[in-house]
Amino acid sequence: MNYRHAYHAGNFADCMKHALLVWLVEALARKPAPFFVLDTHAGAGHYDLNAVPAARTMEAKGGILRLLDTVSAKEGALSPYLSLVRRLGLYPGSPSIIEAILRPDDRLTCCELHPEDAAELRHLFAHNPAVSVHRRDAWEALRGLLPPKQKRALILIDPPFEDPNEFSNLPKGLALGHSRFRTGVFVAWYPIKRLAQVRQFLTAMRDSGIRDIVTAEFLLREPLDPTRLNGCGLLVINPPYQFETAAAAILTSLLDAIGTGEPGQGIAVTRLADE
Ligand SMILES: C[S@@+](CC[C@H](N)C(=O)[O-])C[C@H]1O[C@@H](n2cnc3c(N)ncnc32)[C@H](O)[C@@H]1O
Repeated sequence: MNYRHAYHAGNFADCMKHALLVWLVEALARKPAPFFVLDTHAGAGHYDLNAVPAARTMEAKGGILRLLDTVSAKEGALSPYLSLVRRLGLYPGSPSIIEAILRPDDRLTCCELHPEDAAELRHLFAHNPAVSVHRRDAWEALRGLLPPKQKRALILIDPPFEDPNEFSNLPKGLALGHSRFRTGVFVAWYPIKRLAQVRQFLTAMRDSGIRDIVTAEFLLREPLDPTRLNGCGLLVINPPYQFETAAAAILTSLLDAIGTGEPGQGIAVTRLADE
């Protein structure tokens, strides 16, 4: 396991994922019944952007640091995400973002395989009985932890994509999770480097027989160079009401703030499978 999220925390792809995640978890929190969140690839939970890993890559400069510098606190579509980041202080990873939105009866389970990140995560949430942390394989957790006892759930699948098979693991993991809990909101992040891999993944999902799938994609440039992270996408199964409209507004604001102006930059919110 070579991937450490600390080197990439706060980059444009993290901001894209987290800005949409905030909207999605808040959408669950709008209804009174308690919900469960499973964060299958949780990372360390929060990151010091001034410490060596993040400072070495400086990826956050083109992401969260630019957003915090240039987007006013009142900016519409990004405001829930940015006010949460400002409120939490230390730059939050997905578990901290989710924890901040939970209500007293909601629950979060985080899985993380890297021993140091799992230990940090455990320490971070030691005080909060609503959050459990497992040093456990994400793909196995989709079988073991679903269905939850709550009737509503969001499952975030955010693999590091260091394994060349990750693009084929993802449809299998989504199919497994969905077969265990058909009404769950499944959210999977994917990188846009080599377009052929992305197309193959989306075709597999379109052909999976799973209904109600939407993708939200953010491109910094036309994906011509497969060695670069040209953009990223979030695939959502069973998206909450009005996700497509909200995602378009969030990604448009994000592009206005951190777009590079390179040819081919843009956003796309696409319905992959009907309800
Ligand atoms: C992209 S990072 C997660 C970032 C986090 N979701 C966030 O948004 O803040 C992916 C994480 O998955 C962990 N990981 C890799 N393979 C895993 C597996 N099979 N099961 C659980 N965790 C895994 C890595 O150690 C890494 O911390």
